[in-house]
Amino acid sequence: MENKIPWYHKTSIYHIYPRSFKDSNGDGIGDLQGIIQKLDYIHDLGFESIWSSPFFASPQVDFGYDISDYKNTSPEFGTLDDALQLIEEVHQRGMRIIFDLVLNHTSDEHPWFKESRSSRDNSKADWYLWRDKPNNWNSMTGGNGWHYAKERRQYYWCSFLPFQPDLNWRDPEVKQTMFDIARFWLGKGVDGFRLDIFNTIYKDAEFRDNPFTFKLAPTPDDPSGYFQKMQYSQDQPESFELAKEFRQVCEEFGDKLTVGEITAKRNIVRRFAGDEKNDGLALAFDFEMLEFKFTAEFFRRLIGDIETHFHPPFMPVYVFSNLDKRRSIHRLGNDVRKAKLLHMLQLTMRGVPCMYYGEEIGMTNLKLPFNTALDPIPHKYKHLPRFIFDLLDVTVNRDEVRTPMQWDGTKNAGFSSAEKAWLPVHPNYMHVNVESESKDGKSLLNTIKTLMKFRSENPAILEGSFEFLEGLPTGVLGYARETDGQKLLALLNFAEKAQDVKLNFSEAVYRLTVRDEAQDGSAHLNGFGGLILSA
Ligand code: NOJ
Repeated sequence: MENKIPWYHKTSIYHIYPRSFKDSNGDGIGDLQGIIQKLDYIHDLGFESIWSSPFFASPQVDFGYDISDYKNTSPEFGTLDDALQLIEEVHQRGMRIIFDLVLNHTSDEHPWFKESRSSRDNSKADWYLWRDKPNNWNSMTGGNGWHYAKERRQYYWCSFLPFQPDLNWRDPEVKQTMFDIARFWLGKGVDGFRLDIFNTIYKDAEFRDNPFTFKLAPTPDDPSGYFQKMQYSQDQPESFELAKEFRQVCEEFGDKLTVGEITAKRNIVRRFAGDEKNDGLALAFDFEMLEFKFTAEFFRRLIGDIETHFHPPFMPVYVFSNLDKRRSIHRLGNDVRKAKLLHMLQLTMRGVPCMYYGEEIGMTNLKLPFNTALDPIPHKYKHLPRFIFDLLDVTVNRDEVRTPMQWDGTKNAGFSSAEKAWLPVHPNYMHVNVESESKDGKSLLNTIKTLMKFRSENPAILEGSFEFLEGLPTGVLGYARETDGQKLLALLNFAEKAQDVKLNFSEAVYRLTVRDEAQDGSAHLNGFGGLILSA
């Protein structure tokens, strides 16, 4: 049978926050040459695709998610030539790279916005969303998202923070310009894009007020909160259409990976990937899993629901950490055994795994105060007592999950030769680092490496079907992955106690822990252990 699964549905994604990955020139800030220096590491880890957060020209108030020139780089990250070299070096290693495209908004320092705000009748007057009177819409970060510009005596709309004005995609010139920016980078060879807050790009044409809801705080799978349902400020019909149009723009350059950041319920996330066919975005993040609970029941429900929505030809993405939310191992009480099992699931599931830099070595949150945060968001909340956010278990200060990559046990964890890195290094770097974990056969890093290798060598995992195994003991999650000629069974024990499972299988082909074992007709799983059996 001809294999019809496109590369971007079989790939694996390693997410780099460039500011924190590797500093090549000693200024305390990670950069593009730093990424290039570490490409062999990522290749060796087994990831095919790299997603880098933005490094385009920007005043860096939201560290690159506020762009002032989409076709150039910010000097602290390097030059345009460095970006081109990065693409080339990635390709030389048989890997792929996707850039992070912020289509929804620009920086308020972007020349387009400067012109737009200067008067009501300049050539860019309609490039942003201007209103004489604000409506009731809240921004995604809380509080009214309309901001006054005295030059026009009008308000402009910001879905995120006040220095990130939203573009007006109903203006055909804006749309063409943004499509051409995508074409510019595709022409330079990038393999696709991660698309920032894609579902907020279109807003209601009539700017109707958003309705009331009792929901207090936004959640990763639903931005409604602060007593407001985001009915008219996101997920508009035109945005679903845009997913298809944008896909076509990308396909002018061949098979490209597009992955949307969509903060919405699963049925909506799915619609961004297409209706019947996967002709919208190639992939879309599903953020309920960022708030995973470490139980077999949670994952059984989650995966079951994901399989219902993202059945073939759609492909889900499995992501447990990112630049905005708590790191996965932090959620697991920093228990490495649990992290290994979580990633065993991530790397054997039907879906594209997306790993945030440092997740592979178990980098965890670094608790940092709000009032000295470099991230602008906590400054909105610093008057409130910190324990409220800790109780709600939300990351407000995103610096906490963006600390420098821990390469070794030397100064600044080998991230930078500067006196001081842009953010503090987590003090656990003396033992949580790439160098020491590489030497330890049982480390999280080596477990992930082995799993990545296993994944790449087994078609049942890369392109096989998925089915739950039934009748397992409480706390054990089991599933079969099958393709023509290969059937694998995965057993994952989310309980701390060892458990025995009766099953028909022929041999154990992967053991998560040293003692997990299989004998004819029964499998023994250690606490938090996992096995893959060949059926
Ligand atoms: C989502 C990104 O993940 C986040 O880091 C950024 O601040 C906002 N979009 C605004 O662009």
